[in-house]
Parts: sequence; structure tokens; C-alpha cells
Amino acid sequence: MNVADLPKIELHLHHEGAAPPAFIRQLAHEKRIDLSGIFKPDGSYDFRDFAHFLSVYEAACEVLKTPEDFRRLTLAILEESAENGVVYTETFLSPDFCGGGDLAAWKDYLNAIQDAADEAERKYDITLRGVVTCVRHFGPEQAKRSAYCAAETAGDWVTGFGMGGNESIGAQGDYNWAFDCAREAGLRLTTHAGEFGGPESVRDAIRHLDVERIGHGVRAIEDPDLVGELVDRGITLEVCPGSNVVLGLFPNFYAHPIARLRDAGVKVTISTDDPPFFHTTMRREYEMLNKAFGWDDEDFTALNKTALDAAFCDDATRENILKRLEKP
Ligand code: ADE
Ligand code: ZN
Repeated sequence: MNVADLPKIELHLHHEGAAPPAFIRQLAHEKRIDLSGIFKPDGSYDFRDFAHFLSVYEAACEVLKTPEDFRRLTLAILEESAENGVVYTETFLSPDFCGGGDLAAWKDYLNAIQDAADEAERKYDITLRGVVTCVRHFGPEQAKRSAYCAAETAGDWVTGFGMGGNESIGAQGDYNWAFDCAREAGLRLTTHAGEFGGPESVRDAIRHLDVERIGHGVRAIEDPDLVGELVDRGITLEVCPGSNVVLGLFPNFYAHPIARLRDAGVKVTISTDDPPFFHTTMRREYEMLNKAFGWDDEDFTALNKTALDAAFCDDATRENILKRLEKP
């Protein structure tokens, strides 16, 4: 079997970042908003570096204005993911882009997203769960609003809380209140660290936010003691190799540390982050990892098992997904 045909689990996907450029252009056309500056002549997203990527991302979000926009977006994302063999996804949803942090508005967006997820589960046999994320460069006060939205809607579907955004601004510990609020509501925790921040950012995430998963975390490779700590604590990394290569952390897949981290005993998983921005899909990530490291069915089956163990869903859902992974 071609490894790319295996069923897949994805734990790190930004909802707006998964919007195909054609989808964003269509909404811009319907709403008469000029977004021509964020696309290349070939229609793909146009950005120079990480900071510019974040501003193009936020510009694209300007056309995602209503719960109905998010309903359509969710269906489009899940159709595409299912075509790439994904059976379970955890998506990052930001109240900042879904009602600006207002709880009543957030509930309307969430209902629309969950409706679309139910429809996609029936049509495409893919399961979605939500991880509410605050955005680091929007600051700790706005993060509190996101955490409050997360806490008020925590349950079977909203299962986690996390943080994305520009890691060079502030410190992980500035967001303590938000993470404590989410933890007290029973949510499982993850944060972006060790992507543009170095090993000290990963250490801060562990020390100050007590997360069980880390988004990226790949720059831990620069510090062997930290790699040992990740192993000892059983922390899972949500690794997004294609994203890291496009954003210039590593020159290519061959130089990516995912294999070294795995071989050192760190729990690694594979995701796409913002697939159309980085010209990737889960299928392509598998193909590239197979090419770069010779990973075969057995390797990917073990990685999926690691991902399923680290998934924030309840045990009944986990059992269900396990059956889908085992289906020939
Ligand atoms: N938001 C969307 N993609 C991101 C990334 N790769 N890092 C941090 N924040 C993000
Ligand atoms: Zn991310």
C-alpha cells in the first residue's frame, strides 16, 4: 500500500488557515471586498515571511464575517481533508475571528461549525473536534475573552484550549490566567512553542502553562536536556514539517528534525497547520516523510496511534476512530 493512502489523524489545523484561496476569493467577490493584494498571480496566498504570513492570514479573515461563512468553510475544509484520507481532525478555532470574543456571538459561530461538522461526518466519514485558541499577538486581555468563551462551551465537542500567533511577542506565562481558566473548565491544553521561539519558549510552555501537547516544538532539538524532558513528561509534539519548511525554519524535509525527535523517544505527530498557505495536504506530508526518511506503513501506523492517544476527544470517540484506522 502507498503510505499516502493510509487513514490519517491530524491534531494541528488552523480553521481559517485551512481556507482554500479560491474560497476566500469567492467570499471577497460576494461581499465586494478587495483582497487582491494577498494573492499571487497564480491564485495562491502571497507572503514573504512569518510576520507577513500572519498579516495575510488576518486579511483573509476579513471576509469570514458570519456563522454562515464558517459553516461553508467547515464543509469545504472537511471535504478536502477527507479526500486526503483524514479520519479525525482537531481544528483551532479563535473566538477573535468568530464574534471578536463576545460569548453570545461565539455560540452562534460554534453552532454553525458543529452543524457543518455533523453534515461532513455523515457525508465524508470524518470526525472533527474543536480546540479554542487565543492569538498571542492580540495580547493577554483578549486571550482571557477567548478562554472564557472556551470554558463556557467546553464539552464533548470543544475539548481543548491553546494559543497560536506570534511567539516573539510577550512570554507564555503572560497567558496564565487564560490557561488556568480553560484547565478549570476541564479543557486539555496545547500551545505553539519552539517554532519561531527557541528551546526556552518550549521550556516556558511546560513550566508556566503546564500543557500536555505543544504546537511545533521542533526547536527543542537544539537542547538535548529539553528533548529528554519532553520524553520524561510524555509531551506530544504537533509537528507540521511542510509548514516549517515553507516558513524557512529548515531548508527542506531532509533537514527537518522530526525523525531525530522521534528516534530520541519524543511523541511526534504529523499535521499541516495551514495547508493551502504552505501548498500541502496530509497526503503530501506522508509522501514527503516517506521520501525523506523512508518511513513506511508501520511507522505511520505507530504515528497515528501516538496521535490518537494524544487526541483531546473522549474515549468513545477514540474507540470509534481506532476502528476506522484499523479498517483495511
Ligand atoms: N497561526 C496560524 N498558523 C500559525 C503558525 N504556524 N504559527 C503560529 N500561529 C499561527
Ligand atoms: Zn499552528
